[in-house]
Amino acid sequence: MKKLKIGIVGLRFGGEFAEIYKAHPAVEKVVLCEQDAALLSEYASVFGYDELFTDYDQMLQTDLDAVHIVTGIPSHHELTVKALRAGKHCACTVPMGVSLEELFDIIRAQAESGKQYMMMETSIYTFQCFYAKKMLEKGEFQNIQYMRGIYFQDMDGWPAYWTGLPPMHYATHAVSPLLYLSKGIPESVICLGSGKMDPRLQEKYGNPYPIETATVQFRDQPYVADLTRSLFETAHEYVEGFTILSDRASFEWNVENEPPRISVFQEGKDCTNMGSRGRRIHTYDAHCENMEELLPKEIQEYTRHCTILDPKHPHNSIQQGGSHHGSHPHMVHEFLSSILENRKPETDAVTSAYWTAVGICAHLSATQNGARIPIPDFEEFSAQLSSHTV
Ligand SMILES: NC(=O)c1ccc[n+]([C@@H]2O[C@H](COP(=O)([O-])OP(=O)(O)OC[C@H]3O[C@@H](n4cnc5c(N)ncnc54)[C@H](O)[C@@H]3O)[C@@H](O)[C@H]2O)c1
Repeated sequence: MKKLKIGIVGLRFGGEFAEIYKAHPAVEKVVLCEQDAALLSEYASVFGYDELFTDYDQMLQTDLDAVHIVTGIPSHHELTVKALRAGKHCACTVPMGVSLEELFDIIRAQAESGKQYMMMETSIYTFQCFYAKKMLEKGEFQNIQYMRGIYFQDMDGWPAYWTGLPPMHYATHAVSPLLYLSKGIPESVICLGSGKMDPRLQEKYGNPYPIETATVQFRDQPYVADLTRSLFETAHEYVEGFTILSDRASFEWNVENEPPRISVFQEGKDCTNMGSRGRRIHTYDAHCENMEELLPKEIQEYTRHCTILDPKHPHNSIQQGGSHHGSHPHMVHEFLSSILENRKPETDAVTSAYWTAVGICAHLSATQNGARIPIPDFEEFSAQLSSHTV
């Protein structure tokens, strides 16, 4: 089997991924790029890496097969396009970009490079999402009637690029499970801003809303999806969650708990809860498996824990949400497999663009007092690009 050379860019949250790549049987070597030289050398000496870069462009000139970008939000577009244009496969943490132009640009760069692009969306590889996917595959949902995604997180005190960010500009964790499971193509969105934001938090992005709440309509589908996202001045624990209501069974995950549990509502004879007069609904809390059997044995353990530089001061994303509910090694495995199997990853450029654009268009709607904003047809754009390159 061909083995891959991987570069990790950004070692704060990114530091959780290097050891997973290093342990993966399809990886020959991992090199690190971090512009903070002190962090780079500390990480390298603790975990044993010797190919180190502080300059991203220099790293791209080497013989790496792929890079995984885990830098701050404003840099995702630029670093992604550079990687693809340098002939590297590229994984990038969420969001894909911060404007529709950036999303189109990445789709174009991916198509022209012929390399794989994957947005590393944690929320579709969580214990909870795997459970809902199984229900779906067993046909338990039948007709979806409605979906809801929530994501509450207070970003006070995080790096400066977060300060005052429009909540819907970082909404993929609420959007993605819904679009992934339903396979719905989002067509338009309406959104309102909610609450009162400290004027100092409005200076950077001109965003007056601590919370935004949106409704998405889908192409040729009868259901809608509601999304609610808070980022500032909201007293709530960290929660990512989603609900799928269908005619036969429903799924709900709206609290963080350990071990991970969700609620399922199903038609059934052994009823614990009263449904409508003609139907009875059985409600139960289900334990979610981590699905590590889908992974090479060398990285299965990373569904249960992750590597951190300083256990006394772990990255907030580990404390909040239990290292993203076991998702990290699943994302790494999917990215590497897409390269080795020469196929698009589950979250390819077009899919990632839809998942990110829902939030970008939602915030645009909020700034226009809830006007309906169409979501671009990225499939059509991608098809046009392919017809030009044929
Ligand atoms: N669940 C998730 O998917 C999830 C969770 C947390 C963070 N994120 C994403 O990951 C990103 C990174 O998170 P973080 O908390 O580590 O951010 P951070 O800003 O604290 O750290 C980013 C690191 O990247 C380095 N860096 C920035 N530009 C660089 C460049 N050009 N070359 C080399 N190094 C560079 C910085 O020096 C810094 O150490 C976030 O902005 C967010 O988009 C996603």
